[in-house]
Amino acid sequence: MKARQGARRDFLSVVENCTRALMDLYREAIIDHYKHPRHKGQLDDPDIHYRDTNPFCGDEVTVQLKVVDNVVVDAAFDGKGCAISQASASMLMEEIIGMPLAKLKRWGKEDILDLLGIEIGPVRLKCALLPLKALKAGLYGLEDWPA
Ligand code: FES
Repeated sequence: MKARQGARRDFLSVVENCTRALMDLYREAIIDHYKHPRHKGQLDDPDIHYRDTNPFCGDEVTVQLKVVDNVVVDAAFDGKGCAISQASASMLMEEIIGMPLAKLKRWGKEDILDLLGIEIGPVRLKCALLPLKALKAGLYGLEDWPA
Protein backbone atom coordinates (compact mmCIF):
# COMPACT_ATOMS: atom_id res chain seq x y z
CA MET A 1 0.00 0.00 0.00
CA LYS A 2 2.83 2.38 0.95
CA ALA A 3 4.67 1.56 -2.30
CA ARG A 4 1.52 2.40 -4.28
CA GLN A 5 1.12 5.70 -2.48
CA GLY A 6 4.78 6.49 -3.15
CA ALA A 7 4.38 5.72 -6.85
CA ARG A 8 1.27 7.89 -6.99
CA ARG A 9 3.12 10.74 -5.28
CA ASP A 10 6.04 10.37 -7.73
CA PHE A 11 3.63 10.37 -10.67
CA LEU A 12 1.86 13.49 -9.41
CA SER A 13 5.21 15.18 -8.91
CA VAL A 14 6.21 14.39 -12.52
CA VAL A 15 2.87 15.73 -13.80
CA GLU A 16 3.30 18.88 -11.72
CA ASN A 17 6.83 19.42 -13.04
CA CYS A 18 5.71 18.88 -16.64
CA THR A 19 2.79 21.29 -16.19
CA ARG A 20 5.12 23.89 -14.70
CA ALA A 21 7.59 23.44 -17.58
CA LEU A 22 4.77 23.78 -20.12
CA MET A 23 3.47 26.94 -18.43
CA ASP A 24 7.02 28.34 -18.50
CA LEU A 25 7.17 27.67 -22.26
CA TYR A 26 3.86 29.47 -22.80
CA ARG A 27 5.03 32.39 -20.65
CA GLU A 28 8.26 32.57 -22.65
CA ALA A 29 6.27 32.58 -25.89
CA ILE A 30 4.13 35.46 -24.60
CA ILE A 31 7.20 37.47 -23.62
CA ASP A 32 8.81 36.71 -26.98
CA HIS A 33 5.72 37.91 -28.89
CA TYR A 34 5.60 41.03 -26.71
CA LYS A 35 9.28 41.86 -27.25
CA HIS A 36 9.37 40.79 -30.91
CA PRO A 37 5.82 41.27 -32.20
CA ARG A 38 4.92 39.59 -35.49
CA HIS A 39 2.96 41.47 -38.12
CA LYS A 40 3.14 44.77 -36.24
CA GLY A 41 2.69 47.83 -38.42
CA GLN A 42 0.38 49.06 -41.14
CA LEU A 43 -0.94 47.46 -44.31
CA ASP A 44 -1.29 49.40 -47.54
CA ASP A 45 -4.96 49.92 -48.28
CA PRO A 46 -6.45 47.32 -45.88
CA ASP A 47 -9.91 45.93 -46.58
CA ILE A 48 -10.73 45.76 -42.87
CA HIS A 49 -9.50 48.21 -40.28
CA TYR A 50 -10.61 48.69 -36.69
CA ARG A 51 -9.10 50.38 -33.64
CA ASP A 52 -10.30 49.45 -30.18
CA THR A 53 -9.29 50.46 -26.68
CA ASN A 54 -9.49 48.91 -23.28
CA PRO A 55 -11.54 51.48 -21.34
CA PHE A 56 -9.97 50.44 -18.04
CA CYS A 57 -6.41 51.36 -18.98
CA GLY A 58 -6.60 53.24 -22.30
CA ASP A 59 -4.41 50.68 -24.09
CA GLU A 60 -5.26 50.24 -27.74
CA VAL A 61 -5.00 47.82 -30.61
CA THR A 62 -5.64 48.49 -34.29
CA VAL A 63 -6.21 45.48 -36.53
CA GLN A 64 -5.92 45.59 -40.32
CA LEU A 65 -6.69 42.81 -42.78
CA LYS A 66 -6.27 42.27 -46.50
CA VAL A 67 -8.95 39.93 -47.82
CA VAL A 68 -9.13 38.10 -51.14
CA ASP A 69 -12.03 35.78 -51.98
CA ASN A 70 -13.19 35.87 -48.34
CA VAL A 71 -9.80 34.67 -47.06
CA VAL A 72 -7.38 36.71 -44.96
CA VAL A 73 -4.24 37.06 -47.09
CA ASP A 74 -2.43 39.50 -44.81
CA ALA A 75 -2.91 40.93 -41.35
CA ALA A 76 -1.24 43.52 -39.18
CA PHE A 77 -1.77 45.16 -35.84
CA ASP A 78 -0.56 48.28 -34.16
CA GLY A 79 -1.02 49.75 -30.75
CA LYS A 80 0.32 50.04 -27.28
CA GLY A 81 -0.43 48.08 -24.20
CA CYS A 82 0.55 45.45 -21.72
CA ALA A 83 2.42 42.25 -22.56
CA ILE A 84 -0.77 40.18 -22.67
CA SER A 85 -2.64 42.47 -25.07
CA GLN A 86 0.29 42.91 -27.43
CA ALA A 87 1.32 39.25 -27.38
CA SER A 88 -2.29 38.26 -27.94
CA ALA A 89 -2.44 40.57 -30.99
CA SER A 90 0.84 39.22 -32.36
CA MET A 91 -0.23 35.59 -31.94
CA LEU A 92 -3.63 36.32 -33.42
CA MET A 93 -2.16 37.93 -36.55
CA GLU A 94 0.10 34.91 -37.10
CA GLU A 95 -2.80 32.55 -36.71
CA ILE A 96 -5.38 34.19 -38.95
CA ILE A 97 -3.41 34.67 -42.16
CA GLY A 98 -4.84 32.16 -44.62
CA MET A 99 -8.05 31.76 -42.65
CA PRO A 100 -11.50 32.10 -44.29
CA LEU A 101 -13.57 34.95 -42.87
CA ALA A 102 -16.42 32.54 -42.08
CA LYS A 103 -14.12 30.56 -39.78
CA LEU A 104 -12.68 33.70 -38.25
CA LYS A 105 -16.16 34.94 -37.38
CA ARG A 106 -16.60 31.83 -35.24
CA TRP A 107 -13.44 32.56 -33.23
CA GLY A 108 -14.01 33.32 -29.60
CA LYS A 109 -12.49 33.70 -26.19
CA GLU A 110 -11.39 30.07 -25.94
CA ASP A 111 -9.39 30.32 -29.18
CA ILE A 112 -7.41 33.26 -27.81
CA LEU A 113 -6.86 31.55 -24.47
CA ASP A 114 -5.64 28.46 -26.34
CA LEU A 115 -3.14 30.60 -28.23
CA LEU A 116 -1.84 32.19 -25.04
CA GLY A 117 -1.77 28.83 -23.29
CA ILE A 118 -1.74 30.10 -19.71
CA GLU A 119 -4.48 30.75 -17.25
CA ILE A 120 -5.66 34.33 -17.50
CA GLY A 121 -7.41 35.91 -14.53
CA PRO A 122 -10.54 38.05 -14.90
CA VAL A 123 -8.63 41.34 -14.80
CA ARG A 124 -6.26 40.31 -17.60
CA LEU A 125 -8.99 38.75 -19.70
CA LYS A 126 -9.92 42.13 -21.18
CA CYS A 127 -6.25 42.57 -22.15
CA ALA A 128 -6.12 39.17 -23.84
CA LEU A 129 -9.37 39.73 -25.72
CA LEU A 130 -8.75 43.30 -26.89
CA PRO A 131 -7.24 42.26 -30.27
CA LEU A 132 -10.07 39.78 -30.90
CA LYS A 133 -12.62 42.45 -30.02
CA ALA A 134 -11.04 44.80 -32.58
CA LEU A 135 -10.92 42.01 -35.13
CA LYS A 136 -14.58 41.06 -34.64
CA ALA A 137 -15.72 44.67 -34.88
CA GLY A 138 -13.77 45.03 -38.11
CA LEU A 139 -15.15 41.78 -39.52
CA TYR A 140 -18.71 42.83 -38.84
CA GLY A 141 -18.13 46.36 -40.08
CA LEU A 142 -19.04 48.03 -36.80
CA GLU A 143 -18.61 51.78 -36.56
CA ASP A 144 -18.44 51.43 -32.81
CA TRP A 145 -19.29 48.82 -30.17
CA PRO A 146 -22.83 49.30 -28.85
CA ALA A 147 -22.71 50.99 -25.43
FE1 FES B 1 -4.23 47.67 -20.73
FE2 FES B 1 -3.71 45.15 -20.55
S1 FES B 1 -3.36 46.66 -19.03
S2 FES B 1 -4.70 46.14 -22.18
